[in-house]
Amino acid sequence: MQDALGRPLRDLRISVTDRCNLRCTYCMPREIFGPDYAFLPREELLSFEEIERLSRLFVELGVQKLRITGGEPLLRRDLPQLIERLSQIEGVDDLAMTTNGLLLPRLAGDLKAAGLQRVTVSLDSLDPETFGKMNGLGVHPDKVLAGIEAALQAGLGVKVNTVVQRGVNDSALVELWTALRSKAVVRFIEFMDVGNHNGWEMSQVVPSSEVIARLAGSGSPLRPLDAHYQGEVASRYADAQGFEAGVISSVTAPFCGDCSRARLSAVGQLYTCLFATQGTDLRGPLRAGESDAELLERLRGVWQVRRDRYSEERGEASGKRREQKVEMSHIGG
Ligand code: GTP
Ligand code: 5AD
Ligand code: SF4
Ligand code: SF4
Repeated sequence: MQDALGRPLRDLRISVTDRCNLRCTYCMPREIFGPDYAFLPREELLSFEEIERLSRLFVELGVQKLRITGGEPLLRRDLPQLIERLSQIEGVDDLAMTTNGLLLPRLAGDLKAAGLQRVTVSLDSLDPETFGKMNGLGVHPDKVLAGIEAALQAGLGVKVNTVVQRGVNDSALVELWTALRSKAVVRFIEFMDVGNHNGWEMSQVVPSSEVIARLAGSGSPLRPLDAHYQGEVASRYADAQGFEAGVISSVTAPFCGDCSRARLSAVGQLYTCLFATQGTDLRGPLRAGESDAELLERLRGVWQVRRDRYSEERGEASGKRREQKVEMSHIGG
């Protein structure tokens, strides 16, 4: 099955909660996501059974990779039970999670035992002041490092995601990479205009080419590596010792041409782009008792007409800023 631009459906990102225990300025700024913010009530969320059923249908349509996201997915109660259900689906060859890592010391062992293969932990700086500011709550980087250690101990694969913002955390990228590269693949992400509240400006984006030049300039030269699979989000590099760094260049080098990702929100809305303004409700039909065949038809109907290529359009002359994009906390990036 292909979309209107010839792209297959290979990858499903599943958000399990819109809540988070951090308030990163570029994702859930405190001014908006304050004490009065109305998060989703529990009964609105898809149950584990519903998520499993939809996942099985997506796998029938070609999905091979599942990634659990949030908000912060580890805030969802009994999450290892969901992992266990998903790990048993035949045809899933990659089961991963994107997390801020804070709860990994408590949960890494159970997640691994349930069948999770790897985690990607977000960590923007090793400097306590910079990281405290970026996460909005003054949380110390050691808390995240403890989560990374717990994941490694449990035998999970670990990557680190670092969102780069000029003038905020870009002066210490080399230090971060040097400290972590023997343990995890570090990926530097260009700050993106996701959602509606992060005050995105092009001037805050550090192009990936500049990041690579800085890493390479710090000592050993970097050589580009081949992608693991077609449509891989990160471009990969290795230093002389074989340690890997990645860059995710959604702004300066968009990768929509190969985009095979669908996103399922915690309430069961299907989005076909990270920058979508609208989703398709799957929970309604699911709870109304639609059969698998009917649901499959519905999913095909959405994917086959898909023409999303927002990151490419952003750079085009006619590119317009979109109003009311879906929030990152609803679809987990
Ligand atoms: P791997 O499976 O390890 O390759 O991870 P991933 O890069 O697919 O997932 P991750 O959740 O670590 O995302 C890394 C960064 O890339 C985040 O900032 C995401 O928001 C961004 N990203 C992931 N998929 C897309 C996409 O389809 N479009 C855009 N523009 N950004 C994406
Ligand atoms: N730009 C780039 N990356 C972002 N992330 C969250 N918000 C943004 C943004 N505005 C990252 C998180 C996490 C991943 C899923 O997306 O840090 O690692
Ligand atoms: Fe939470 Fe991740 Fe968003 Fe930070 S980027 S506020 S950790 S969901
Ligand atoms: Fe896919 Fe949309 Fe990201 Fe392009 S901007 S890579 S279409 S999710």
